[in-house]
Amino acid sequence: MLTINVVTLFPEVFAAPFGVSIPGRAAERGLVRYRLVLKPEPFFEAVEDLRAGPPIVLLSARGRPFSHQAAVRFAVGKELTLLCGHYKDVDQRVADGLGAEELSIGDFVLSGGEPAALCVVDAVVRLLPGALGDHESAASDSHYDGLLSPPSYTRPPSYRGMDVPAVLLSGDHEKIAAWRAAEAARLTRERRPDLWAKHLDAQTQ
Ligand SMILES: C[S@@+](CC[C@H](N)C(=O)[O-])C[C@H]1O[C@@H](n2cnc3c(N)ncnc32)[C@H](O)[C@@H]1O
Repeated sequence: MLTINVVTLFPEVFAAPFGVSIPGRAAERGLVRYRLVLKPEPFFEAVEDLRAGPPIVLLSARGRPFSHQAAVRFAVGKELTLLCGHYKDVDQRVADGLGAEELSIGDFVLSGGEPAALCVVDAVVRLLPGALGDHESAASDSHYDGLLSPPSYTRPPSYRGMDVPAVLLSGDHEKIAAWRAAEAARLTRERRPDLWAKHLDAQTQ
């Protein structure tokens, strides 16, 4: 079971998100447990009270970008501790003294680390074996293999004059796989040239 500690001034922010959908289901199934610690300052004492070992993450707008690779790393661990900053900033000695890695969820500034911690927890928990239902698969999601996923279509085949691409209704699995691969490549090239360049690099190595 993965233990996720969240040190926050606002534990109530987490009550609903940790109780529903995949994070809630994973907790019910005993795959994860959440411990919310109302003790933002000083972070040192909070981490000591929790007896938390690494990885300790300080959510920070100037952190390294949080990524799928980090989510995988946290999902295979036993414990993850997230420190949510608030107000102007967190004293740098917290990250330095606790050996915390600073992670950012994007190039923008939030009012506090709580929404960032929610993003990290959700991304990690859905990777735990047994967290997703049979019909859901992390392996076909964006970023799993470094590319964006192709667009998804469900039923009905025609809705408000918009049709599901004919190939997806053809039943021809090879053609469907080729369409999905081409769409994944197109979207990644168009929307994330940084990921596309990495993908091309990896292919030439
Ligand atoms: C107002 S922000 C502090 C911003 C800081 N003065 C800066 O310029 O980098 C308050 C807290 O929100 C959280 N936070 C803000 N933006 C974030 C981001 N992009 N990713 C992760 N956490 C973020 C951090 O925990 C931060 O300590």
